[in-house]
Amino acid sequence: MTDAPRVLVAYGSKRGGTEGLAEMIGEALTAAGCDAVLVPAAEPADLTGVDAVIVAGSLYANRWNRQARRFVRRHAEALRELPVWLVCSGPLDDSAAQHDLPPTAQVADIADSVHAQGTKTFGGRLLPDATGFPAHAMAKTRAGDWRDHVAITAWVGDVVAHLQPA
Ligand SMILES: Cc1cc2nc3c(=O)[nH]c(=O)nc-3n(C[C@H](O)[C@H](O)[C@H](O)COP(=O)(O)O)c2cc1C
Repeated sequence: MTDAPRVLVAYGSKRGGTEGLAEMIGEALTAAGCDAVLVPAAEPADLTGVDAVIVAGSLYANRWNRQARRFVRRHAEALRELPVWLVCSGPLDDSAAQHDLPPTAQVADIADSVHAQGTKTFGGRLLPDATGFPAHAMAKTRAGDWRDHVAITAWVGDVVAHLQPA
């Protein structure tokens, strides 16, 4: 790979937190010398010329975002030929910062289905004025932003090292 690696970041986000996480991943990829392309998982994506794919989705009741799941299913054939990482967002506490959290069973199965290089769970975000049931009730006690720039940048560094071996 002589040109900058082109990395597609597809994201499925219900309330914007995972979209922001995908933007942070994109910024870290760009800073590390990659050509980062962000796309909502629900939109058509062209994987031609892409060197690696990161699919990010929020977790709700232990289930990974439906659009992220559909993206993986839709592109499974191409993804099996590429290095792929699945990203989850995430716990509304500092658990993701304390430990490397294992993927949920569902995410582990999806990762296996495309022979993903790895999975990663980052802390999530819930706004105090979140609407909808049960998010509104949860927000009264659990609102906050646990997306961790430093951890995200470090993880992107590992991904890029995999793409550009020394
Ligand atoms: C109703 C509800 C259920 C949630 N369930 C989980 C869960 O099972 N596991 C988890 O890690 N985070 C859970 N979260 C936290 C969200 O995953 C976190 O807020 C995430 O960043 C939301 O992403 P989004 O803004 O892109 O929708 C839940 C949040 C809400 C509001």
